[in-house]
Order: sequence, then structure tokens, then C-alpha cells
Amino acid sequence: MWLNRDIVSIGDFTKEEIMDVIKRADEMVPYATSGHPRAPLANKIISTLFYEPSTRTRLSFESAAMRMGAKVLGFGSLESSSVAKGESLSDTIRILNGYSDAIVLRHPSEGAARLASEFSDVPIINAGDGAGQHPTQTMLDIFTIWKETGKVDGKHIGMIGDLKYGRTVHSLSKALSMFDISLYLISPDELRMPKHIKKDIEKSVPVKETRDIESVIEELDVLYVTRIQKERFPDINEYNKVAGSYSIRPALLSKAKKNLIIMHPLPRVNEISPEVDNLPQAKYFRQAAYGVPVRMAILDLILRGE
Ligand code: NCD
Repeated sequence: MWLNRDIVSIGDFTKEEIMDVIKRADEMVPYATSGHPRAPLANKIISTLFYEPSTRTRLSFESAAMRMGAKVLGFGSLESSSVAKGESLSDTIRILNGYSDAIVLRHPSEGAARLASEFSDVPIINAGDGAGQHPTQTMLDIFTIWKETGKVDGKHIGMIGDLKYGRTVHSLSKALSMFDISLYLISPDELRMPKHIKKDIEKSVPVKETRDIESVIEELDVLYVTRIQKERFPDINEYNKVAGSYSIRPALLSKAKKNLIIMHPLPRVNEISPEVDNLPQAKYFRQAAYGVPVRMAILDLILRGE
């Protein structure tokens, strides 16, 4: 069921399968800092193919692969690869099939990972396709909620920021709609969740949409903050209109539940004031660290199938 499976869209997985990853990731936590003692992926090679900037996703995949005993191949930069000579994505994928057992792909075009999976015999792991999907981020986001609060069901979860272009919230809202939760979509009008995604989620869970974080903060158990995706705006003037339109500060949190957790996929620009970092609610650095055990679990499942 898992062996050689592509990880393209979170909608390809059931709640039970997402929970399989979460439970396997929890078993990996002790090895995420020391390395897996049996090095179960010792004979495997993972390629990382990143056509867009990345710090956490790429390096946590590389760390996860190494902690499992696998080796990692990747470009230093696209300028140093044949992409700079105009090689197509499909050709690059075909070539990497000869060199590695799985390919982690980030690309600016929505649908690129699905397309790549059609040319690939080895699993394609979507590490972000434009404003589309980011399924492994979603798995680590759900792991964070589960690990830090004890469960996912029953939670009131708010997402604030760029719900229009943010692929993390597109994936995460879809996954959360499989759980028994309430969703709050908080954004300026210009950055609202695309209608087709909202409609889909509303079929399964209650959704409340608002511009005003103050009006819902006291109801939330989880606040998931996102960066405005400047690079996806067709017009910089449109970006300038919404830049800096929200920022999470300690004063806001005084109205929140005591055990609220604050998450962010990072990088942060100015959506969360640094004064929040040392508060007990701030979980975003821990969330980033969970990228390693969660990606260890994913690699283990798709490369060994058990
Ligand atoms: C996110 C992404 O690339 O979509 N970052 C990440 O993978 N942790 C979020 C972002 O860039 O804002």
C-alpha cells in the first residue's frame, strides 16, 4: 500500500493513512537527533530537485534521509545544472530515475509534481508545487497539533494570512476536513481561501470566514499563521496593498485560551512579532524540528513499504 507511492496531494490519502505517518513519525522522534540504529534505508539514494528556494523542507528531507542511513543527491543550484541549458522537467525526472530511489521535487508551477509522477518509476514527493499543494508539510503540521495538544479531533483551528496563494494552508485545510474539527479562515478579503477549496472543505467540517482575528481568537485551540506569498502575486501593487496587514503580538494572546498553540510553516517575515517567540504558545520552531521525524517516517514507508 505504501511501497513506491507518490506523495503528490494530501487528498490522495485517507485519515487512517495520515495517522499511520503520524504514529510512525512518533517512533522516529528519538532517532531524529541521533540517527536510526538499524539504518533501514542504508542502500537508498534520495534526489532533491528544488526549482524554488527552500531551507526547512529541503534540509529536513536531507537530514531525515541521512538519519535513516540513506544518501542524498542534489544540485548546489539550478544555475549549475542542465536546467540552465533549458532541460525540461520531464527529461530531468527521467534522468534522476536512473540515479535515485525517490525524488523530492519543489517547483513553481501548480501540477508539476503530478506531471513528474507520470514520467517517473520512482516515487515523487511533492515538496510544494506553486500555490498548489505541500503534503509533507501538512503531515508535519498535523503531527505538531497531535503531539503538542494530544489529539486533532475536537479542535478549533484558525488559519490566518495568505489563504489564497499559500500551499501549506491549501493542503492542511483539506487534511483537517477529514478530522472532526472546526475551521476558521482569517484573512484580508484579497487573500481569501479559493472558493473551490472552501466549498470542498465545507462539505465535511464547519468553516467560519472572517477578516478579524480579534473576533475569533478566544475560540481557538490552534492558530496557524502564514506569510504573504509575495512571489506569487502577478502585480507588486496588489502585494503592497496587503503587506503588513496582520501581525500576531502578545497583546492579542491575552484574550486567547491559555493552551492555544501558535504554528507557522516558516519562513516568517513580520506576521509574528519576535516577542511571541519565548511565550509557551509559540510552537513554530518545534514544528520545524518535527520535519525530520515526519520525513523519516514518510521515506521509510514509501521506500520499504512497511
Ligand atoms: C512554506 C512553503 O514553501 O510553502 N515553507 C515551508 O515549506 N516550510 C511556506 C512559505 O514559504 O511561506
